[in-house]
Amino acid sequence: MSGHGTPIPMTSHACGPLKGEANVPGDKSISHRSMILGAMAVGETRISGLLEGEDVLDTAKAMRAFGAEVTDHGNGNWTVHGVGVGGFAEPENVIDCGNSGTGVRLIMGCMATTGISATFTGDASLNKRPMARVTDPIALFGAQSFGRSGGRLPMTIVGAANPVPVRYEVPMPSAQVKSAVLLAGLNAPGQTVVIEKEATRDHTERMLSGFGAEITTEVTEQGRVITLTGQPELKPQTIAVPRDPSSAAFPVCAALITPGSDVLVPNIGLNPTRAGLFTTLREMGADLAYENEREEGGEPVADLRARFSPDLKGIEVDPTRAASMIDEYPVLSVVAAFAEGDTVMKGVKELRVKESDRIDAMANGLRANGVDVDEGEDWWVVHGLGHGNVPGGATCESHLDHRIAMSFMVLGMATQNPVRVDDGAPIATSFPIFEPLMAELGARITRDTD
Ligand code: S3P
Repeated sequence: MSGHGTPIPMTSHACGPLKGEANVPGDKSISHRSMILGAMAVGETRISGLLEGEDVLDTAKAMRAFGAEVTDHGNGNWTVHGVGVGGFAEPENVIDCGNSGTGVRLIMGCMATTGISATFTGDASLNKRPMARVTDPIALFGAQSFGRSGGRLPMTIVGAANPVPVRYEVPMPSAQVKSAVLLAGLNAPGQTVVIEKEATRDHTERMLSGFGAEITTEVTEQGRVITLTGQPELKPQTIAVPRDPSSAAFPVCAALITPGSDVLVPNIGLNPTRAGLFTTLREMGADLAYENEREEGGEPVADLRARFSPDLKGIEVDPTRAASMIDEYPVLSVVAAFAEGDTVMKGVKELRVKESDRIDAMANGLRANGVDVDEGEDWWVVHGLGHGNVPGGATCESHLDHRIAMSFMVLGMATQNPVRVDDGAPIATSFPIFEPLMAELGARITRDTD
């Protein structure tokens, strides 16, 4: 788990054109859900293309601890022999979810309506993050939670032996909270209803339906009203995990700012609840094409082709798009530094409670590298310097946050001086092949030990 090991300082040096094909790993959100829903189905789920990052491996370990049989067949191929909805066994030990908010929140949801207890912990980043957003709704089902002050991990959840269904309006745009409530609703009798004002990623709804649950989504004036019928028998599935648009963001953005680049990023899922970054980049004048557009497993997919874009313009990012690109703001702020004019990002309060306070982490690092940034509680503005004018030269703190570390490595590819991060180890949580993949394209990222 990141944050438990030795820091790995890394430096990114200006590089020539990035060229070639970037085969990014499987989608993190879908990988977690494949493990978890596989563990709640009766029989064997087969998964290919699983993201074998630390976050998902921690979820795999957790599913074993709750009694599922999880087997690694190599090369991203896994099987999960599930124990059925409500079939979780009480774990013998503390469940360590490492760096993963998605892992811990979704797993808390699924055990909250079973008559067992479990204690959860994580690394220094995860143990700072708010869990009341999950413990509040699971309390409505009848679960109890005992954590540290402020609703922080480590925390014990005592599941409800006789759960009742709930109707819950999610107070913040969060797919993790929505998913935790739906997963808890699986083992409650009757109908559980979750309402979200803004659409967040809908993988849980799509996958629950794929596993045979009765689930409907209605778009109303209140927002999206999702109704799940409890206590289904989930049927095992064969899942081909699509590639992660949030990981694709790094080679795409690197190509846009690095002179002469032309990079193909094949097979990227463009589910509208995830693809906001690409729309935004195109509005900024990025040379970013969707090639070979098609449908796979009911999801829109395309090959992304990103070419160096010397005339990027700052824009005001549509705040209604925030949820669909929430993990991509850090790397967008790097692209914004190379654009002419201001890039204004509003309605992004959630960025402050991710693996790090992402507004603060990026603003401080960008400022140290010569870029002006203004910020408020739920907004920030990057004052772009235009291509070729970003000084660089500083060391940035990654705060145990993979996306912060990778964003600063992308920054250093086109700055006048190299950019360093104090710790690139967290990159392994979501994109373990980041360094070799970027090197293959022509990037120059070194470790201090090199
Ligand atoms: C995720 C939801 C988002 C996102 C995270 C993955 C998920 O978190 O930032 O990386 O898989 O459901 P929130 O639910 O906190 O917005």
